[in-house]
Amino acid sequence: MTAFSHLPNPPVVRVGVIGVGLIGQDHIRRITQVLTGGAVVAVNDVDAARAGQVAAGLPGATVHATAADLIADTGVDAVLVASWGPAHEEQVLAAIAAGKPVFCEKPLAPSSEACLRIMDAELAAGRRLVQVGFMRRYDAGYLAMKAALEDGSIGVPLLMHCAHRNPQVPPYGFTTDMIISDSAVHEIDLVRWLFGEEIVAASVLVPRRSGQAPAGMQDPLILLLEMANGALVDDEVFLNAQYGYDVRGEVVGETGTVALADVSEVTVRAAGRYGGRIPVDWRDRFIRAYDAELQDWLTAVAAGASTGPSAWDGYAAAAVTDSALAALRTGQRTAVTMPERPDFYAKAD
Ligand SMILES: NC(=O)c1ccc[n+]([C@@H]2O[C@H](COP(=O)([O-])OP(=O)(O)OC[C@H]3O[C@@H](n4cnc5c(N)ncnc54)[C@H](O)[C@@H]3O)[C@@H](O)[C@H]2O)c1
Repeated sequence: MTAFSHLPNPPVVRVGVIGVGLIGQDHIRRITQVLTGGAVVAVNDVDAARAGQVAAGLPGATVHATAADLIADTGVDAVLVASWGPAHEEQVLAAIAAGKPVFCEKPLAPSSEACLRIMDAELAAGRRLVQVGFMRRYDAGYLAMKAALEDGSIGVPLLMHCAHRNPQVPPYGFTTDMIISDSAVHEIDLVRWLFGEEIVAASVLVPRRSGQAPAGMQDPLILLLEMANGALVDDEVFLNAQYGYDVRGEVVGETGTVALADVSEVTVRAAGRYGGRIPVDWRDRFIRAYDAELQDWLTAVAAGASTGPSAWDGYAAAAVTDSALAALRTGQRTAVTMPERPDFYAKAD
């Protein structure tokens, strides 16, 4: 039951956006220009000037001095959190306390303990209010890969090879740990969803360091993730690969393999060569997945439902991240410890 469900044609979901940096602005663009059923009516950012600039492009939108004010605004039906990770917990908890649906960009919170506090608050509220921004679940390639696994096309899946390459990271502020907590967290969530299994242990291999990495950063890394059913995932995460944003994946089964295809719109054949386009960044590569995830959220909010990646998924990804960071520090395989998934979060993906 939502504020809208008694109406024959539900009005648009009035969204308040907290954090209007790179992805906050991109989500505002898609809600206002691409998707249906949503309007951005309020914004907040610790950078007040930035909030004002963004609001100037949104006729009628209110700029709130604090995130708490935005959440309390009775004209805001649902909250989109796109601030920095360390701010997520307080903002998501405030939205839950206000009984408002909240879409939170990954990570749900920087530690698994913080994610547990969010889960506890949602459980106490008695209904799902939180969706986490794991947009790869909405990518057409990964959806086709999951369908191939489920229809038995390649037999029992045994292994997966992943690569996650960015051209470069900013020279300051990005750490080796963030290669795991900010980047590999996408594959961590993805393989849980793809295989329908939890990850039970993580190891990290440290190859030769790229001279293109900023001083002090160990780049690339290779994560080895062990699924509960014994399938093994290797994930090369290389953030200064220079040549483009390249996300690859191949599952090897008992009778075949399924791999993501290249995403170039065309292949050019000329002068004895052929070639295509490599995406420039994550917005380019996953633009349709971001559109689909936010459309799914708006539709679910209007229906009073919640269907996307949950607070449990945010928690599980954080728990695996903790183990991978411990494995990076110790050089040892590290088991993932987490409680049983509460029935509250049981769902068919
Ligand atoms: N799903 C994805 O693929 C994806 C991609 C990029 C970023 N992200 C996530 O989105 C979040 C934002 O990333 P970004 O790249 O847009 O960063 P950004 O630095 O460009 O923007 C973050 C904005 O949040 C504001 N902010 C910080 N703390 C705040 C607070 N307490 N209250 C209000 N505003 C605050 C900053 O001033 C800034 O304007 C991060 O959690 C990041 O991991 C997800």
